[in-house]
Amino acid sequence: MTYSGSQLTSVDSPLLGVNIDHIATVRNARGGRFPDPVAAALLAVESGADIITFHLREDRRHIQDDDVRRLKEHVAAPLNFEAAVTDEMLDIIERTAPEHVCLVPERRQEVTTEGGLDVVGQRSRLEDACQRLAAAGSRVSLFIGADPAQIHAAAEVGAPCIELHTGALANAWWDGNAAALALELSRLKAGLLLGRSLGLRTHAGHGLALSQHVPIGDSAVVAGQVSSTALVAACPDVSELHIGHALVGHALFVGLRQAIADFKAEAVRARRTGAIVGQ
Ligand code: PXP
Repeated sequence: MTYSGSQLTSVDSPLLGVNIDHIATVRNARGGRFPDPVAAALLAVESGADIITFHLREDRRHIQDDDVRRLKEHVAAPLNFEAAVTDEMLDIIERTAPEHVCLVPERRQEVTTEGGLDVVGQRSRLEDACQRLAAAGSRVSLFIGADPAQIHAAAEVGAPCIELHTGALANAWWDGNAAALALELSRLKAGLLLGRSLGLRTHAGHGLALSQHVPIGDSAVVAGQVSSTALVAACPDVSELHIGHALVGHALFVGLRQAIADFKAEAVRARRTGAIVGQ
């Protein structure tokens, strides 16, 4: 399949990797086939997503093996396969041959990827993984905190890209904690700059959100404040953003009106014309 969407160069804004994990989370809540994350990926690409990101977890809590197979078959945009550094995952990635891979730490008990990889503590394992995945034709990124030692180690093990974890920044934003937010933003900027100076391509992601979703009756988040997505996107050294949870949450709000209208119209039409199985 040829891909005619955005090319992987970024001058004016970072590329957007749309993480579809939570479409699968909703599907899996009922164990059925809907909503289909692959259909969501196609819609995301049609709507301007530059990259489709997904995380095949060891416990398969959202994306399933068959989703990976169907994503590879049907999605023409670059796939960014997030996975833990395990033999099982490296085998699946080699067989899938996605354009991009993001290696992440994984703990079964965590709700989401809570921290970055300890590259310093597992240099040889990551060096092997980077070589193996590069040989399979995938561009590798390491998901790490904005810690200079980890950034240096990522360059030393041969990863061409790093993705800096913005979870703490995002939490400070949600908490309305201006001091923590300023600190996290300056750490992120320094990390991006260091990564670039070492010749790495620098991405960012986790927890990034828009400003209009202030919880009702919650005074922590200030309505109209600059969004966490904007704060990170404005950093000149960030070339890709990977966003999932808040993007899917936003889709619920911007899509709910239409969804209700569609179900009401369906019921009205059925009453008017009747409905017969199979027709
Ligand atoms: N980047 C990486 C490496 C991730 O593991 C995740 C979460 O799966 C994201 C970005 C997206 O985070 P969120 O769903 O909070 O936007």
